[in-house]
Amino acid sequence: MRKRRDVYTKRAKQEGHRSRAYYKLQQLDRKYKIFHPKQLIIDLCGAPGGFSQVARDCTNGNVSIILVDLARIKPMPGINNIIKGDITDQSTVLKIREVVERNRSIHKEIVVLADCSPNVSGNWSTDQAIQIWLSEVALGISNYFIAAKFVSKAFQGETFNKFIEEVKTYYEDVKIRKPRSSRRTSAEVYVIAQKRRDLELKLYDSNSLLADE
Ligand SMILES: C[S@@+](CC[C@H](N)C(=O)[O-])C[C@H]1O[C@@H](n2cnc3c(N)ncnc32)[C@H](O)[C@@H]1O
Repeated sequence: MRKRRDVYTKRAKQEGHRSRAYYKLQQLDRKYKIFHPKQLIIDLCGAPGGFSQVARDCTNGNVSIILVDLARIKPMPGINNIIKGDITDQSTVLKIREVVERNRSIHKEIVVLADCSPNVSGNWSTDQAIQIWLSEVALGISNYFIAAKFVSKAFQGETFNKFIEEVKTYYEDVKIRKPRSSRRTSAEVYVIAQKRRDLELKLYDSNSLLADE
């Protein structure tokens, strides 16, 4: 398995991609056609930027991308907006909203990507629970912006099924897949949620966030 991981890490370097995660999303897009021109991509937990590069490359740069992470991200061509922030912090969501508002009229739909991983503590059940919690926060952001598609990492474990059920309340078409480039020994899978249900959102609608400002 290490051999396979090393192949993708080496390839990413040779081909000028920010991370080996590039191949995971590329493989998912080839199958599920996630990206189309004129989308607005919100790439949560996106450092160092491999996922954003996939969205840009799959559309010949004909998308707007908001890349958000706790870590500092080096600027890169075609990635218009980089926000250094914690996705669990409301001020980060407000910064994302500013960019969304500026771009809303020129985009057909919003896609939220979430490849969130906590700093691993070594305690598996804690790490798994935090990872799913971050993915739930990302789902909340996806709902807040009424994203047409939501693609998220999820660690399989105790809280996994509940998260998937939650995703299914908001999206009709929900697939769980493990791309070939994801290490087989890792508990990570990806949730590809498409076809947003027409719901009246209560938890994260724009009025609820505005009310707290
Ligand atoms: C697996 S990496 C993402 C790789 C990225 N998708 C790529 O393609 O290069 C996980 C990221 O989650 C970020 N992260 C973890 N918790 C976060 C939080 N609360 N807010 C923002 N980013 C977070 C980490 O800083 C890390 O960069």
